[in-house]
Amino acid sequence: MKLRRLTRYLAVLCIAAASAYFASQQASSAAAPGKPLSSFDPQVKALLAQMTLEEKIGQMTQPDQENIKDLSDIEHYAVGSILSGGSSDPKEGNSLQAWTDLYDRLQQHTALTRLKIPILYGVDAVHGHNNVLGAVIFPQNIGLGCTRNAALVEKVERVTAEEVRATGIQWAFAPCVTVPQDIRWGRTYEGFSEDPQVVKELGEAAVRGFQGTDLANPLSVLACAKHYIGDGGTTFGSARRDTGLDQGDTRVDEATLRRIHLQGYISTVKAGVASIMPSYSSWNGVKVSGDKHLLTGILKQELGFQGFLISDYNAIDQVNPNYKTAIGISINAGMDMAMVPARYKEYIADLKQLVDEGVVPVSRIDDAVTRILRVKFAMGLMDKNRSQLADRGLQKSFGSPEHRAVARQAVRESLVLLKNKNKVLPLAKTAARIHVAGKNADDLGNQCGGWTIDWQGKSGDVTPGGTTVLAAIKGAASAKTNVTFSKDGTGAAGATVGVVAIGEQPYAEGNGDRADLKLAQEDADAVANMKAAGIPVVVILLSGRPMILGPVLDQADAVIAAWLPGTEGAGITDVLFGDFKPKGKLSFAWPRSMEQVAKHPGDKDYDPLFRFGYGLTY
Ligand code: GLC
Repeated sequence: MKLRRLTRYLAVLCIAAASAYFASQQASSAAAPGKPLSSFDPQVKALLAQMTLEEKIGQMTQPDQENIKDLSDIEHYAVGSILSGGSSDPKEGNSLQAWTDLYDRLQQHTALTRLKIPILYGVDAVHGHNNVLGAVIFPQNIGLGCTRNAALVEKVERVTAEEVRATGIQWAFAPCVTVPQDIRWGRTYEGFSEDPQVVKELGEAAVRGFQGTDLANPLSVLACAKHYIGDGGTTFGSARRDTGLDQGDTRVDEATLRRIHLQGYISTVKAGVASIMPSYSSWNGVKVSGDKHLLTGILKQELGFQGFLISDYNAIDQVNPNYKTAIGISINAGMDMAMVPARYKEYIADLKQLVDEGVVPVSRIDDAVTRILRVKFAMGLMDKNRSQLADRGLQKSFGSPEHRAVARQAVRESLVLLKNKNKVLPLAKTAARIHVAGKNADDLGNQCGGWTIDWQGKSGDVTPGGTTVLAAIKGAASAKTNVTFSKDGTGAAGATVGVVAIGEQPYAEGNGDRADLKLAQEDADAVANMKAAGIPVVVILLSGRPMILGPVLDQADAVIAAWLPGTEGAGITDVLFGDFKPKGKLSFAWPRSMEQVAKHPGDKDYDPLFRFGYGLTY
């Protein structure tokens, strides 16, 4: 009897524990961190009731600072936001002070408006505060995807948010939760993975990093999940320009669109992301930025997204050949704020006319402004007791060793060891001589890739405080080790080992679309020259995507995919010399040939060189 009672008691205990656990999981997964944005609606409604139509439309307008020739436009049009596009820099240059002064100068103009609603300032902080000299530049998302480490991604974006806030700026057009299906696309590296589940998990972590648990925290930054939806699923050859893929047409049924491309929005909306950027691309021939089913039906009604939609840069223009018609279609479809870098006066006038003509109902305007103001209240922008100017006290940690340490850890964990014949790795720090070669061995700009200081990025010494692969090798090897360098790999005879850093030069968006992903001839030559010296050869590939390795794979004794690691090159040598064992796992399958590109598990004759998830260790 006693035993039976005890057994029953234990069973009840287990059920209670299990249900408590699942309840806690439900609670944590269901409720976004912090208060729901709609909880601010009472204050929003009170403010909305005071606003004129012109002031409402102003809130829905985001010009680019470089096109505001007369700063009084800010108060005259009562714009709700201003951005700096990829290369829209302060005229004084890209220093921390120049950016902070620019932000303060523009924000101060909002105090001259009737209602004094502060602007949100948006930038593409997509791998650190990458517009600003001296900022820590993190690995691009493709590398973060290979870490499979959500906690680390959250920490990366937490540090990024702090460096963004150091300039006063409060909005990052990140994370990109694209799920690239064809690595010929120039934006492949902006994606965490070809796999929706990896994107789902890391996108959510990124939003937590940027926004924290409370948008009103002065260290929180408004995140922006982008580019909704299917930006990474376009068909090769459908690109708007003749680049191949970028801004093209995603030709799949809705079930496939949801299965592959919606996952990052489900998870980031659940995580409380407060802005989302619709894509330039089309779905089955219809521009996403004018598709009401996608913008309103799925995002706002089905997923319950309570924040606001910000268009991409002039993306509304592509919705219809007639600009005014395009505005009407896009706003009625659910776009809330227009990124109108230059033609903001025309946009404002056209939208006002569309409302006067009854094409765009006032209720749609009120809904858009409600969504924008919810975010501003949630972020503390409407708090009259709080300065909206930059907190320059945050600048002491800008580019700090502590911040760089986070980036270095992300680099370590992002590296994928593809080959290690005869355990040539890890290298000995006391090797007599290490010969280094390759165009990417001593080039910080190539190591960072696009979206670094300039929109397209560029080769060379682009920002202070970084460490190239060559510098990192010199720093890690012993004082007795002779580290020599030749870009073309010649002169290596007699070295203990050769290290060749090759790959891609910087690009962004459609400029990175490629029909052929074979290595540049100079890269293949550098490896061949090194090999000819008869020494072990280690190849490090610094690229925005997998590339066709060809003979290099056999010539190399070891191959490491390092992606676009950013400024902290020492993260690479931590692995090279064995201070950290490689643990990265491919977030994209590695094609054997160009015929294999864009094939996926289940496709006929799918036969990658290295499968999704592949990665060796020591
Ligand atoms: C660009 C990109 C988008 C970026 C925006 C602002 O064209 O598509 O990712 O956030 O414009 O720079």
